Amino acid sequence: MVTEPELEVLISKRKIAAAVRRLAAEIQVDYRDKYPLIVGILKGSFVFVSDLVRCLDIPLQVDFIRLSSYGSCTESAGKVTVINDLPVHIQGRHVLVVEDIIDTGLTTSFLCDYLRQQGPASVKLCSLIDKPSRRIVPVKIDYLGFTVPNLFIVGYGIDYDEKYRNLPDICIIKEEGKC
Ligand code: PRP
Repeated sequence: MVTEPELEVLISKRKIAAAVRRLAAEIQVDYRDKYPLIVGILKGSFVFVSDLVRCLDIPLQVDFIRLSSYGSCTESAGKVTVINDLPVHIQGRHVLVVEDIIDTGLTTSFLCDYLRQQGPASVKLCSLIDKPSRRIVPVKIDYLGFTVPNLFIVGYGIDYDEKYRNLPDICIIKEEGKC
């Protein structure tokens, strides 16, 4: 029999929903009349993006990019590559990158630099969660939901070994020896 690790709710779905509404209200004011391109980073951001855009009552476009970082499964090794690029040109566009969690900062730092090289009108960053204790490279987060300590968390898009992305709450996973 497979023993499932113990989970403890850190951020409830009710608190997440309130944060999503707050962030959407800020974004809506800043991007009214800008027809932003919302760029979600797969896979982790798919839940957050889907909730966020449904709270945004402005014209917008949504797309996704898939990135990969190599290394052990809890550490970004520093090399980020594009697996599936955006299918749209971003020159002159107002781009809002949407991320589930910023940890070392390597993923979002790479992506924002990558996008800025393509001549957008602006690039800003929205993240539901920030884990600043793990930062390796500085990242400016323009819209932030929650700051969390250095705990191993899952749910609301965030996985452990590809599991738990479907949890409605963000939970601490308490199993010892996880990778
Ligand atoms: C996670 C998360 C971020 C990234 C943050 O993605 O979704 O994209 O790590 O870490 P960083 O700040 O240290 O770069 P992951 O690489 O686990 O892939 P996933 O989105 O498919 O789960």
